[in-house]
Amino acid sequence: METRSQWGTRAGFILAAVGSAVGLGNIWRFPAEAYANGGGAFFIPYLFALLTAGIPILIMEFTLGHKYRGSAPLTFKRMNKKTEWVGWWGVAVAFVISTYYSVIIAWAISYSIFSLNLSWGSDTEGFLFNEHLNLVDAGQIGSFVPGVLIPLIIVWIVVLGVLFAGVKKGIEMANRIFIPALVIVFLIIVIRAVTLPGAMQGLNAFFSPDFSSILSPDVWVAAYGQIFFSLSIAFAIMITYSSYLPKKSDITNNAFIVGFGNSSFELLAGIGVFGVLGFMAMQANVPVDEVVAGGVGLAFVVFPQIINEFPAMNELFGFLFFASLVLAGLSSLISITETYVAGLADKFKISRGKAVLFGGGLAALISFLYATQGGLNFLDAVDYFINQFGVALLGLVEVIMIAWFLRELKGLQSHANEFSDIRLGSWWTISLTVITPIVLGFMMYQLFTRNLFQQFDTPTGNYEGYPDAFIMYSGWAVAAAALIVGIAMSFTKWKSTKQSNEESESREEKIK
Ligand code: PHE
Repeated sequence: METRSQWGTRAGFILAAVGSAVGLGNIWRFPAEAYANGGGAFFIPYLFALLTAGIPILIMEFTLGHKYRGSAPLTFKRMNKKTEWVGWWGVAVAFVISTYYSVIIAWAISYSIFSLNLSWGSDTEGFLFNEHLNLVDAGQIGSFVPGVLIPLIIVWIVVLGVLFAGVKKGIEMANRIFIPALVIVFLIIVIRAVTLPGAMQGLNAFFSPDFSSILSPDVWVAAYGQIFFSLSIAFAIMITYSSYLPKKSDITNNAFIVGFGNSSFELLAGIGVFGVLGFMAMQANVPVDEVVAGGVGLAFVVFPQIINEFPAMNELFGFLFFASLVLAGLSSLISITETYVAGLADKFKISRGKAVLFGGGLAALISFLYATQGGLNFLDAVDYFINQFGVALLGLVEVIMIAWFLRELKGLQSHANEFSDIRLGSWWTISLTVITPIVLGFMMYQLFTRNLFQQFDTPTGNYEGYPDAFIMYSGWAVAAAALIVGIAMSFTKWKSTKQSNEESESREEKIK
């Protein structure tokens, strides 16, 4: 019999999956996306996307991992030999994401220390770009920035240490600590945020619905994009995590808990972020829309400004905010990195320790590129391309492959129903065979036309106005490389003893 690692408890699995889902995307991406796409009215497409794509795909990936009990590549191979590359593609995308996601956590570590004496001063933008990152032009590398490199090394020591310790003693244990800590810290921040003067103005701006926007396809695309990114689906992550589920597990129920848990955290983050933005607008005596920001700008420029203005305990609240980014980020990075640790261990039959060392070690080395003066530019371009072409394209390929070509849904449906209280019916099948492919197909069409025919409103017509060559090698080439490496990996030989081959074959028989 095979001895695959297992979660110790049901709560352990749920915490780990929630830990993966709740990340930077919830804290700095969701509030700005919702605001830009109709405010309160955004909840309609958002909920629709959650119920027709997010949760159905989560159920599908949980079922895949549970049924085939393998890392993403092994799961796809067991489903059909010809689809192993889809699993590797997801792993390769996750690998790329891990190389820069770790760097953002490193910035957050530096900033939690900076908060202790508000060392960013009054010009927080100048501080980030000139003093902290020492940024150079796009395409240049410059030298290492010790203020990023040192915390980055710490990030990798923690993440690889956790993965080295295994599924139950490492991943489950870490999430048991990180997630409750994150929820407590974040609740403190949100309660403080909504009791600040001006907070209500911010919340009004956030929730006031612009119903005209829900007729725009862009808003629907944004909603689906947010759900995909936020739930960590279509990146090999959830397949890997569910491959460690014990046989008796309520798959569908777990997926609902994780899906709604993640969205609740997202909503909480929106309330907290807009509470403080309202406070800041009031201090500066400007309308809320002049202070709205997302991403790096929100966390490392606007937030330090807000902390400067706080009525009391500025240092403490600064520290708590950046600590929550670190906790949310680490639990996600652990899940992203586990995809290739598991993939390598399965394929080459190496120990977990070796897989962590080779896979994680390589990712850590590559991540050092972003700890240079040019790092932020590379990070921005790689993030945009790998996410867009990871999110939409990989999701589309995965769903079409499973629903249309392999016609696996029936089998997966009965597998999930066998173990779950909630029965899957036509809602699930229609979401996956019709709705998700249509929306994702449209998303891809839009994405390609926008990037290929230069529709960005920037001097170069490229994303963020980056030069053509830079977009070529830091954007397109990286996204294409993930696919090519994925396909190449599927051609390498499965290292296995004869015995384990037979084992896996007899398991395939049983599965059928
Ligand atoms: N879902 C997590 C987040 O919101 C982590 C993640 C990011 C997973 C990007 C995959 C891709 O940040």
